[in-house]
Amino acid sequence: MRRSKIAGYGFYVPEKVVTNFDLEKIMDTTNDWIIERTGIEERHFVDKDFTGPSDLAVQACQDALKDAGKTVEDVDFIIFATLSPDYSFPGSSAFLQPKLGIKDVGAMDIRNQCTGFIYGLSVADQFVKTGMYNCILVVGAEVHSTGMDLSTEGRDVAVLFGDGAGAAVITPAENDTEGILSTVLHANGAYAKELWTENPASCRMPRINKKMIDEGSIYPFMNGRAVFKHAITKFPNVILESLEKAGKSLSDVDLVIPHQANMRITEAVRHRLKLPEEKVFSNIQKYGNTTAASIPIAMTEARDQGLIKKGSLVSIAAFGSGFTWAGAIIQF
Ligand code: ACO
Repeated sequence: MRRSKIAGYGFYVPEKVVTNFDLEKIMDTTNDWIIERTGIEERHFVDKDFTGPSDLAVQACQDALKDAGKTVEDVDFIIFATLSPDYSFPGSSAFLQPKLGIKDVGAMDIRNQCTGFIYGLSVADQFVKTGMYNCILVVGAEVHSTGMDLSTEGRDVAVLFGDGAGAAVITPAENDTEGILSTVLHANGAYAKELWTENPASCRMPRINKKMIDEGSIYPFMNGRAVFKHAITKFPNVILESLEKAGKSLSDVDLVIPHQANMRITEAVRHRLKLPEEKVFSNIQKYGNTTAASIPIAMTEARDQGLIKKGSLVSIAAFGSGFTWAGAIIQF
């Protein structure tokens, strides 16, 4: 069976930079607390109305296609991973398609939060390996800033997240040495309410009311300690599982690129895997947690810093809401 590869990738973040000091002015927090607990120094927020993930994704997709030597005419499927779609329906893939000047090709959303990009990569891998499609755009994009409680009430979550988009172009591999060597996907819904946004909800009558808004259940809730405890075991497990499935070992890996959840999580994972700092890529300092966008943003910056080049073996991994966790091994 043929193999798929990441032929190109790119990212885009909105221009507006929001530093920890900017957040100090609107909530009871400090630069020191945020850096010590999360490693984040600044993040990017959209700054004009009617700007959704499908808008942020346009430039990311165009850069990814250029990097792959492809054009929008070559694209035969779109997979869009986001937890913050432009509208509740249709999905952001439908809104992105015309913005890229593409029509008629299949397009779908994946709602898998922090693991969305890897889930999307795995779906694209199957489509390419079976010959169903030959040039798939896999997008991870979020606009978190319009959905958070940017006040002291919401500070435990609001300081973590940023807006951004990343995209990759998945095509058949030209030879059997390169490509996506493995993907592994997991979930455990028993923990669904440890990191979620409760309302609006189609299971409620009505879906949204003033009480929900007043009590703040329209904002994300996170049991930080539970997320931390599960993340620091699931990340190493899924990295090792994806390596075993690819027939590789940790010593073969040139770079580990984890979903940029929180620097404390990344450091705990790095220590558990006994990896030196230079083997694990982090850029959460500049972008915060961009959820489905974080891995393609990090991959692109790693490439631009010469840390991913022809022949590099890269492990990507993510843990997040669901809980879900996933990993992939990529031979560039
Ligand atoms: N600024 C200042 N103080 C704050 C802030 C803030 N932004 N947020 C919370 N606090 C306060 C709390 O009110 C609490 O104060 P109290 O003790 O007086 O009640 C105290 O800080 C709690 O801080 P910690 O003891 O550090 O609490 P905790 O250990 O839970 O740390 C944190 C919070 C950083 C979120 C931690 O739980 C963590 O790292 N969890 C991982 C979760 C995570 O990073 N998720 C990322 C998104 S999910 C994903 O991508 C996988």
